[in-house]
Amino acid sequence: MAKLAQILAEIKAEHPLLEAVEERLREQVAGSHLAARLARSLLDGGGKRLRPILTIVAASFYPLPEKAVVDAAVAGELIHLASLVHDDIIDNAHMRRGQPTINDLWGNQVSVLTGDHLFATAFSLLADLPKPTVLRSMTQAIRLMCEGEIEEILRAYRPDQTEADYFRCIEKKTAQLLAACCQSGALLVDAPFDQLEALGNYGLRLGCAFQIIDDILDLTAQADELGKPVRWDFQQGIFTLPILYARRHSPHGDELTRLVLTGQHGRAGRLLDRMLREEDAILYAWQEAARQVRMAEKALRVLPPHPARNYLRSLAAGLLEQGPLEHHLLAFSNYP
Ligand code: FPP
Ligand code: MG
Repeated sequence: MAKLAQILAEIKAEHPLLEAVEERLREQVAGSHLAARLARSLLDGGGKRLRPILTIVAASFYPLPEKAVVDAAVAGELIHLASLVHDDIIDNAHMRRGQPTINDLWGNQVSVLTGDHLFATAFSLLADLPKPTVLRSMTQAIRLMCEGEIEEILRAYRPDQTEADYFRCIEKKTAQLLAACCQSGALLVDAPFDQLEALGNYGLRLGCAFQIIDDILDLTAQADELGKPVRWDFQQGIFTLPILYARRHSPHGDELTRLVLTGQHGRAGRLLDRMLREEDAILYAWQEAARQVRMAEKALRVLPPHPARNYLRSLAAGLLEQGPLEHHLLAFSNYP
């Protein structure tokens, strides 16, 4: 088993509340309405349940109010699912996790409302929590997620997009929700402020590492490995970290931009492959993800010694050792 999957399985075995999360998730999407049936199909589609894991592990440093922590964990997962449903509309994506997307099957109108429905379900859970600060932290994360998505749309096809733009964007669209999920757990157990802050920083760095790895796999893996078409963002003129790095260092950078801007996807893809190899851009991005993981681990030092801290540390390290990543790194290496 890949390292990350192994760690997730270990955490699930150690935290029976994650079973309760699964049951509560099902309860929240019960019913015969199409919106509920589509939400259930999303849950059936799998997913690592990373966000609920973060909430529960972050709360487990102290004695925890079980119902509230489970509900906050479920809300985090529902917000994540809602964001994917909306993201698939924005991207006009037809496949996710090996299945046709809701917008593919039912069109954008039903799909946007299914996302809203999920969203509202999450809010009704958050509204009943004993701490209003969790709702505040989650809504702030969602505002930032929307900003990140808007910024990504605005930078599409811009020849002047930079690595700094990329980092700002991934921190908002992906990492802020992970940070808020960690902080939900900490807020519900009244963790001291420095620990709340540390868990927020951990979530941000974990989220950035997670998105960088996701973007590496999008360039290196095959569609059937990922359960979705690859290189979609690139064709839409949105350049991720390895591409931005390769473009900045390669003498063919301007040519690549021109091919993408003029919709010559075949030639652009072949030139990109060559540039990624020549500039060792995949290795560079992986090293950047590793740097984010080290910062995540460093943030944890503020937390008291506890098995939960070890789980969070292993989770971060496990991101760098998931699935076919090592094989892809070698395949895209400059060195024979
Ligand atoms: C997937 O990223 C999408 C996100 C990380 C965030 C999407 C956020 C929104 C649509 C705004 C917030 C909306 C709600 C309802 C909370 P990706 O496109 O890089 O990954 P992918 O390849 O899996 O699509
Ligand atoms: Mg997307």
